[in-house]
Amino acid sequence: MQPVTEDNITDLAHQRWTTARDPRLAELLAALVRHLHDFAREVRLTEAEWMAAMQWLTRTGQISDDKRLEFILASDVLGLSMLVVQMNHRLDPAATPATVLGPFHIEGSPELGYGGDMSDGVPGTPLYLHGVVRDLEGKPVAGGVLDVWQADTEGAYESQLPDIDEARLRAKYTTREDGGYCVRTIAPKGYSIPMDGPVGDLISRTAISHFRPAHIHFLVNVPGYEPLITHLFQEGAEYLDSDVVFGTKQELVVRFEQREAGETPDGGSSAEPWLEARYDFVLQPTS
Ligand code: BEZ
Ligand code: FE
Repeated sequence: MQPVTEDNITDLAHQRWTTARDPRLAELLAALVRHLHDFAREVRLTEAEWMAAMQWLTRTGQISDDKRLEFILASDVLGLSMLVVQMNHRLDPAATPATVLGPFHIEGSPELGYGGDMSDGVPGTPLYLHGVVRDLEGKPVAGGVLDVWQADTEGAYESQLPDIDEARLRAKYTTREDGGYCVRTIAPKGYSIPMDGPVGDLISRTAISHFRPAHIHFLVNVPGYEPLITHLFQEGAEYLDSDVVFGTKQELVVRFEQREAGETPDGGSSAEPWLEARYDFVLQPTS
């Protein structure tokens, strides 16, 4: 029997985990073992610290369910989610950049027409967000579906609220022949990520701001183009420089212009003042 020592444990564990039958899994597990062991050596991990980490991971699992995605939140605040997005979406600089999905997207949103109101009764300042979806050559993308979702002005997403039986602040819009889309919603506000769990416990022991700047989420899936997961942020919003999940990009910041009551971009009219934001999504063809 080969004695296990502080010096050979990493090689032994590495060899064992490279036996994974799938070669990619073997590569991932072997690297994980090496980096975990290096980490423990570098910080001279104590048994009390190891136990605290195990308990933190256990609490993270215990608080998670199909709506509360605490491990993804941990990945987001550690910058891992955004790193993975950046490495896997090296798009043309002229294309709309991708950012994190976040934990609040819900499948199966209702389809609304041009200028349809996805805020339907939720209080807030009316916002019309419109533009075109086009390709890198400027050709309009017709029939593209924009799946849109956002938080209310208290920072709550539908999945965080109990007893909601209708879609709330989320909808799908299909682009017209000219690539045009128009979303009627309410102006988003900055909000805090959930702070009542293990991720919040850790953040509250640092000087990290736990807020995200005001934004609206988009998932744009069009056959023949790279799927795009992104957000649009309000110009001048608080927390743009300190987004707790590292999701902001200058190209995704749009101006919200103040408009008086009257005609709106969808050809309708608003009885109250409203905000207008314009943004053209630029899609990259699949390689
Ligand atoms: C969001 O924008 O919905 C979000 C993203 C990452 C973590 C928490 C929230
Ligand atoms: Fe969000």
